[in-house]
Amino acid sequence: MLRALGTDCHPAATARELAAHYAVRHRVFVDEQRIFHGTDRDARDDDQLTIHADRVIGGAVRLYPLDEDGEFWQGDRLAVLPEHRARGLGTPLVRYAVRTATERGGLLMVAHIQLRNVGYFQRLGWRRDGDVELYAGLPHQPMAIDLRT
Ligand SMILES: CC(C)(COP(=O)(O)OP(=O)(O)OC[C@H]1O[C@@H](n2cnc3c(N)ncnc32)[C@H](O)[C@@H]1OP(=O)(O)O)[C@@H](O)C(=O)NCCC(=O)NCCS
Repeated sequence: MLRALGTDCHPAATARELAAHYAVRHRVFVDEQRIFHGTDRDARDDDQLTIHADRVIGGAVRLYPLDEDGEFWQGDRLAVLPEHRARGLGTPLVRYAVRTATERGGLLMVAHIQLRNVGYFQRLGWRRDGDVELYAGLPHQPMAIDLRT
């Protein structure tokens, strides 16, 4: 049972886990959604402060601090493989990202959310944070969640 796996998200700790993380992102954002061409990897992936979260089965998310004090964090590249969706994998990944940023001293976390996912994030406690804008060439809703409430 996938739901029985609980919240066993963790930072990719080995080259193999990191490769699995990148493979999920590639399948979803390059092959499926075609938001990125060739690769979705960027300079954030090479930053040692970036956390590449991995799930045992087919999910990924990335998070990183936006300021030197680590008070403001951004999450992105949330992805669950199509064959594993709507089985409770995405939600623990979002919660893992929020919890990890909080544990590291974060006050606020932001994300650019695809419009179809706004309701999903609202249900997880996120709020709209500004007007819709282009991100990676597509309309995205800036959203935020307070980490200290
Ligand atoms: C968005 C995404 C990560 C959600 O992952 P998931 O594993 O399918 O989500 P979960 O199973 O944890 O969802 C939990 C609940 O939210 C619902 N849900 C999932 N995606 C939703 C959406 N886009 N809008 C509204 N509800 C959604 C599920 O049906 C489920 O409802 P239930 O608990 O009542 O059964 C996944 O659909 C995905 O990878 N999409 C493609 C990439 C993408 O859009 N990434 C986010 C960019 S902002």
